[in-house]
Amino acid sequence: MHFSPERYMVTSALPYANGPLHIGHLAGAYLSADIYVRFLRLMGKEVVYACGSDEHGAAITLRAMKEGTTPQSIIDKYHDLFKVAFEKIGISFDIYHRTSAKIHHETAQEIFKTLYDKGEFIERESEQYYDEEAKQFLADRYIKGTCPKCGHEEAFGDQCEKCGSALSPTELIAPQSTLSGSTPVLRKTTHWYLPLDKYEDWLREWITTGKLEGQEHHDASAWKNHVLGQCKSWIDGGLQPRSMTRDLDWGIDVPPEIQGSEGKKLYVWMDAPIGYISATKQWALENGKDWKPYWQDEKTALIHFIGKDNIVFHCLIFPAILKAHGAYILPVNVPANQFVNLEGRKLSTSRNWAVWVNEYVEELPGKEDELRYHMIKNMPEQRDSEFTWKGYQESVNNELVNNLANFINRVLVLTHKYYDGVVPAFNENEAFISAATQDYDGYHDGEMLQLHDDLQEINEHIRKFEFRFALSALMKVSTQGNQLLQHNAPWKQIKEDPDTVKVVMNLALQIVGALSVVISPFMPFSAKRLRKMLGLSEDLEHGALESLLTALAEGEHILKAGHKISKSSHLFSRVDDDLVATQMAKLESHQSLKETLDTAQKPSVEGVTPKSIIQYEDFAKMDIRVATIVAAEKIPKADKLLKVTLDVGDHKRVVVSGIAEHYQASDIIGQQVSLLANLAPRKLRGVESQGMILMATDHDGKLRFVAPHGGAKSGSEIS
Ligand code: 2FM
Ligand code: ZN
Repeated sequence: MHFSPERYMVTSALPYANGPLHIGHLAGAYLSADIYVRFLRLMGKEVVYACGSDEHGAAITLRAMKEGTTPQSIIDKYHDLFKVAFEKIGISFDIYHRTSAKIHHETAQEIFKTLYDKGEFIERESEQYYDEEAKQFLADRYIKGTCPKCGHEEAFGDQCEKCGSALSPTELIAPQSTLSGSTPVLRKTTHWYLPLDKYEDWLREWITTGKLEGQEHHDASAWKNHVLGQCKSWIDGGLQPRSMTRDLDWGIDVPPEIQGSEGKKLYVWMDAPIGYISATKQWALENGKDWKPYWQDEKTALIHFIGKDNIVFHCLIFPAILKAHGAYILPVNVPANQFVNLEGRKLSTSRNWAVWVNEYVEELPGKEDELRYHMIKNMPEQRDSEFTWKGYQESVNNELVNNLANFINRVLVLTHKYYDGVVPAFNENEAFISAATQDYDGYHDGEMLQLHDDLQEINEHIRKFEFRFALSALMKVSTQGNQLLQHNAPWKQIKEDPDTVKVVMNLALQIVGALSVVISPFMPFSAKRLRKMLGLSEDLEHGALESLLTALAEGEHILKAGHKISKSSHLFSRVDDDLVATQMAKLESHQSLKETLDTAQKPSVEGVTPKSIIQYEDFAKMDIRVATIVAAEKIPKADKLLKVTLDVGDHKRVVVSGIAEHYQASDIIGQQVSLLANLAPRKLRGVESQGMILMATDHDGKLRFVAPHGGAKSGSEIS
């Protein structure tokens, strides 16, 4: 950083309140920021860490449509879920706010109005798609059609998820409104555009050199390559004016005093990042502080933690808004992460291919830090990374249990055994210490310099947003501790050379004491547990790491001779194969269930169908028959799947059905079912499934057969 900040303003991307928190979110924008702010606090810095739910935009209204409910109930549900999940996994926001709050609407409108009054926007008429049946303009996400690049028939108006191309709705071939199924028409509408092209010169200079109007602003070489690369390629591609308003009914109103504002809402990407500012305002109100220095004083370091899909918004568009406003500072770094894949596949909320944080903490209570550790170790800092349950098991067993917990446990157990839990005093003769601590250079001169330097190495990596390196530097401290014990084998020497053992054990205790501070940004829950075992205050004070470093540099001990430690227990426990198998089966069953039964739609509110309208001809294409189950068996290694043989009147056929969690194979023989008989066959777990058994999903998620009342002959047509 080119200056010593007086304070830090740290943000994590506001997640859309349209689905629960998963490990992809964590790895992208939250764990990194959390380590960073916890570290800053321990270094005695002034920092505000703000986040909140992003509650506007098509992501929310689409979800509401899918769940057959209102945007308000969606945001309330997911805002609460996010808040709790973040707390449970230890993300230490100073405030977790929301963009539906009044203070946010006001802040966003004020910023919009300032830009408008300053004449920064250009007003422009254009043609956009309008749904004549639903009587509204369509957000890009509400339009589907054929991708002009790859021919995928289900591409969205803003992007084709098959080939990844960014699209505009008018590029789609055969566009269709997802609201009514009708073909949308182009209609004229007027919007306010941010002239990014006008800002291109300063944006280019700022991004590439770190200079703002010729003055040094930040160290551009400290930005990640992939972040710079993405920004440069946008700028080189030529920046275009970007519309900051939309014709929608869910979002923040364009300030009513602006002429022509009726029915117009702020573009969600204008509104969401302003959420960082309004969250800070709310924090200030709640804490009797002033929010302004955090956003408007040049001596503040503003840092945005985000995922790579948000780079352009945080590095180009939001800075352009802030600068156009005039009163705000710009970020000194945007350490975006890439994506994390799960067991070789892209994470997907809609396909339920994810590890959900609220489920994890419920199923594996007390193992929050194990997840944090493994995610930090595999953080996608420079490139995409991979989460596997096997990898999780290996990290926990080989590193947390065998290395860290083992070292700490040995030290604490031996301290209880040899010294009744009291930190031993020792012979402070230099030569004597030197001989006793051969594995730990720097201790012998009475100063704990080596330990000090080891901790500084961790800190340096954190300052550079290199959290993976920081974590491995942290584990090195514990590895060295283990070597110290291994080499000196106090358990062998305690009889013949108790004086040497005192030196070794004292040093080992100092290392454990230091660990109880430095593991805290990474593994805050374990830091607390460890501090309790050490008989220290569980909560670390603001500046605790800074004081620790000063103490070490001055040769002071962290745990003074005579200090009594508390009861010890293992800090981490092994992850067994069963846990891995259970989690894998759960993941796969989600997937299989989705593949076999496309009934994942949640029950809808009366009279509202979350699916789009179809014509009778579409319905008539389906051949639905009464069938009777004549045999059923479990499919090995697939907890949710049954192989079911059906009598369909004139023939038998096999269907793979995701109902094993709901029914025993032996209980369903003779059951009549409704069979979608002309579904294209597909192979599941090596078995060809010839159709689909239709099931009703009860409110509690239980699946039930749909059978003819009073029975009907197998093979009867259902229409
Ligand atoms: O991509 C997303 O999930 C957005 N909701 C991120 C918004 S970040 C910021 F602008 F608030
Ligand atoms: Zn495509």
